[in-house]
Parts: sequence; structure tokens; C-alpha cells
Amino acid sequence: MLSEKIKNTINGIRPQFPTEQALLLPVLHLIQDEYGWVSEESMKSAGEFLNLPLSKVKEVASFYTMYKLHPQGKVDLQICTNISCWLNGADKLVACAEKRLGIKCGETTKDGSFTLSQVECLAACGTAPALMLNEDYYESLDVPKLNEILDQASKDLAAGKVVGKTTRKEGVWP
Ligand code: FES
Repeated sequence: MLSEKIKNTINGIRPQFPTEQALLLPVLHLIQDEYGWVSEESMKSAGEFLNLPLSKVKEVASFYTMYKLHPQGKVDLQICTNISCWLNGADKLVACAEKRLGIKCGETTKDGSFTLSQVECLAACGTAPALMLNEDYYESLDVPKLNEILDQASKDLAAGKVVGKTTRKEGVWP
């Protein structure tokens, strides 16, 4: 069952979308925002709300890497390892993050704080290497900058602050 908040948001933006199917992307974003990931149960609810078969919802949710189909850490650290980033030191960033967090790419720290992954092109090739920390972008990185980012994120998490959503404007879609 989708929350009232999600239903209200979708009902509010419905006139801007040509079909119910086109609303699936925002519904999945909102589910992920609320629960931290997109479960099968949530996909069923999304399908019922938009009158789409579960197979269609799964097809879309599993196509885009931005939708997380398993529980995630509070901070989703995605390091681009595509060609521009790789040529500019992404391998060093991955090695640094793995060592510091004590996990491999695709894993979550035991305390549930960080999930680390390698991703394909974040569309910041001109300022490679790049990463995303939840919704925030960081570009032209090196290992010292990554350490600063992780220091700050850990500090903010410990203080109970929201991490990696500095560009978020509440009540505005997208
Ligand atoms: S290759 Fe990394 S942002 Fe495009």
C-alpha cells in the first residue's frame, strides 16, 4: 500500500504526465525516498495504483541502476568507473573507499551506514572522476577529497543529519 504522501504527490503531478505508465518513474523515486529501497511489495502497490502489471513495474525498476532493489545503507556511495573516470583515477577512489569502509563494492557496512557501488557514467565525464553520495554530485576528485567527503558524511550521520541531499527542495517535483 502506497503512503498517502506518495499518492498525493502523484495525484498532484498527474496532469503533467501523458500516461499512467509515465508516472511509474516518479512513483518508484518516491517509494525509494520513503523506504530507502524498492521492495517487491512496493512494486505491487505501485502497479495497483497505476493500473500496470507487476511485470511492467519490475521491468522498469530493474532497468535503472538508480532504483535500489535491496535494502541500502543510509549513505549510497556510487563511484563512476567508466572510461573517463577510470583514466582519471577512479580505481584509486574505489580502493580508498573499500579500505576505509571495510567493504567491497556491492556491500553495505555492518552498521548500515554506507553502501558502496561502482556505476557506469554519471554524466560528469568532463570533470572526471565523479561520484554520487546519495543525491549529491562530487567531481574532479582525488583520494584526499574523497577522504574529506567521507569524514564529513560520517560526522553528519553521527549527528543525525540528512546526508547527500543538499540540492533537494521539499515539495518540488522533480
Ligand atoms: S565516465 Fe564517469 S562520469 Fe562519465
